[in-house]
Amino acid sequence: MKLKDRVAIVTGAARGLGRAFSLALAKEGAKIMAVDIADFSDTIKEIESLGGTAKGLRVDVSSEKDTLKMAEETIGAFGRIDILVNNAAIIYNLVRKPFYEIDPDLWDKVMTVNVKGPWLCTKAVFPHMKAQKKGKIVNLSSETFFTGSNGFVHYVASKGGVVGLTRALAVELGPHNITINAIAPGFTDTEASRSIADVTKYDISRTPLNRLQQPKDLLGALIFLASDDSDFITGQVLLVDGGRVMH
Ligand code: NAI
Repeated sequence: MKLKDRVAIVTGAARGLGRAFSLALAKEGAKIMAVDIADFSDTIKEIESLGGTAKGLRVDVSSEKDTLKMAEETIGAFGRIDILVNNAAIIYNLVRKPFYEIDPDLWDKVMTVNVKGPWLCTKAVFPHMKAQKKGKIVNLSSETFFTGSNGFVHYVASKGGVVGLTRALAVELGPHNITINAIAPGFTDTEASRSIADVTKYDISRTPLNRLQQPKDLLGALIFLASDDSDFITGQVLLVDGGRVMH
């Protein structure tokens, strides 16, 4: 077990990648604080059924009041915060539209949750990681930052924002021995991707590994970036997409 007795906060843990990440971290021995605006009880039950430890909390990552409570409750429950996975984002049911038809209010909402959210969560856990003289933060960017994506300018810009956040925060967090990196997944089969596209029509011929990406394909990268194995790696963006984009 690579993460025995570490404490991990996973945002957006109710379903999709956030649930898969929570289970994977728990299997490596971490205690999980699963946070979401949606019902996270299935994630908690699954972790407990594997013999793991998890608690859940309703948190809107775009609210500082909520993110401060998230850090406080995690310390109250488990005594420390070792890992933060900034996974929550607006992607589910996001309608593709030409850039000139996107409602400015929706633009603001996407930016607020997808970029301000990870910043606020990082801000909330920072005093605790600083006191521990160690921390691991993993952000979720997207392959679309490298390729663009038709009708998705708000989402793609927000995932570029996550890359900027990762790099700028790496500079400030490094002296405290806190690493922050991003995973950029390719199109992955989750409830959210099924809500925005027909996954059966996805063109896998452009994927060298020649199949549709599944949540389990991201778990190795997550555990690596959350564990001591990546202690001298920070500010990086790791593309996990079957080789579609090379950089
Ligand atoms: P999802 O929509 O299934 O999961 C996102 C979770 O975040 C949901 O449980 C949702 O309730 C929660 N959430 C939304 N707004 C929130 C808020 N304000 N506060 C707290 N929680 C909130 O999406 P999925 O597919 O699991 O994606 C997870 C992450 O991976 C996202 O950051 C997404 O942008 C990224 N990603 C996903 C890809 C895919 O193909 N599924 C590809 C590239 C990146």
